[in-house]
Amino acid sequence: MKNISINLKDVSYNIFIEEGLLNKLGSLFKQNFKSKKVVIVTDDNVNKYYGDKVLEQFTLNGFDTHKIVLKHGEKSKSLSVAEQIYGELVEFNINRDSMLVALGGGVIGDLTGFVASTFLRGIKYVQIPTSLLAQVDSSVGGKVAVNLNQGKNLVGSFYHPSAVFIDPIVLNTLEKRFFSDGMSEVIKYGCIKDEVLFNRLDNNIATPDNEKFMEEIIYTCCNIKKMVVEKDEKDLGDRMILNFGHTIGHAIEKYYNFSNYSHGEGVAIGMYNICKISESKGLTIKDVSDRIRKILIKYNLPYDMPNVEQDEILKAIKTDKKTMDKGLNFIIIEDIGKVFLHNVKSEDIEQFLKMNL
Ligand SMILES: NC(=O)c1ccc[n+]([C@@H]2O[C@H](COP(=O)([O-])OP(=O)(O)OC[C@H]3O[C@@H](n4cnc5c(N)ncnc54)[C@H](O)[C@@H]3O)[C@@H](O)[C@H]2O)c1
Ligand SMILES: [Zn+2]
Repeated sequence: MKNISINLKDVSYNIFIEEGLLNKLGSLFKQNFKSKKVVIVTDDNVNKYYGDKVLEQFTLNGFDTHKIVLKHGEKSKSLSVAEQIYGELVEFNINRDSMLVALGGGVIGDLTGFVASTFLRGIKYVQIPTSLLAQVDSSVGGKVAVNLNQGKNLVGSFYHPSAVFIDPIVLNTLEKRFFSDGMSEVIKYGCIKDEVLFNRLDNNIATPDNEKFMEEIIYTCCNIKKMVVEKDEKDLGDRMILNFGHTIGHAIEKYYNFSNYSHGEGVAIGMYNICKISESKGLTIKDVSDRIRKILIKYNLPYDMPNVEQDEILKAIKTDKKTMDKGLNFIIIEDIGKVFLHNVKSEDIEQFLKMNL
């Protein structure tokens, strides 16, 4: 079993990664935690495949276990669903020694983490991420949140899980589009920090049924996230590099009201286009954007900017929450694996982006 330990100022926890890990979840949990009462939070899609199996793992190992099944999708990441969960936790007599188990993608992970961080002023939770995006990104780093009507992730905090359990086998049931979505973040890790990973993804196509390869990819990505998060737990500086491709990506997602492009697709377009821009300014070596374009195609991801008014996208970029008085820090790669921050003053952002959009 692969194991990564995340060591932060006040907490540390382990990420366990292994093909088939779900089959020994109960005993693994028992070895690591004292909680007797467990509440699994999942969504209807994930429940269909893994709900019974995970429940059984806990009950067979003597835990008093409840399961809450929510509707899948981003809409469940809300205060009203959180309130519904609080109600059920009260009914189950959950106390501060109990444990929540987030079984699902990033939606379930963020929501369950948020509930754990607030219920009884904080109870413990573990993550069992089941989408690729959750396995390589959202389950690690402690950001928990719910959405408001006014915007995504507006209410939340930093609240780390007690452990993360990752089984790559579950990716076999993930819809293709969601797999590609996660691959976009995997490619991002290669772009910012790991040329070897980038080349491996380029030379061998990663697919869910190649579990051993997926296990290595997930391990590599979690290790990169570990290093970045340990350096900048509260997202005040270095952690920004994880947003490579995200400024343009978010703007595209937002422009289409989060309906046409998924997060990973937005990021894919963002990574390619920011590279074209930085190449044209001599900040990036010449063939990098083309290497990115080619790898995105291999993983069924888009790369071209949508055919919309430039000004609209610019407007969305300027209203991005990361635009500060001091301008905008663009995350640029000099070459594959070599990332740096490049500050552009507010008044120059339009000019900086204009060449290629
Ligand atoms: N906390 C963080 O640091 C962080 C980072 C990135 C993204 N996020 C958040 O993550 C969320 C997106 O996560 P996501 O892409 O995992 O979305 P998601 O949780 O909605 O999962 C995507 C879809 O796949 C289904 N699914 C998940 N695992 C499955 C499996 N193994 N088999 C079959 N179906 C499965 C889900 O039911 C859902 O329909 C967003 O809310 C975003 O804000 C958080
Ligand atoms: Zn992302």
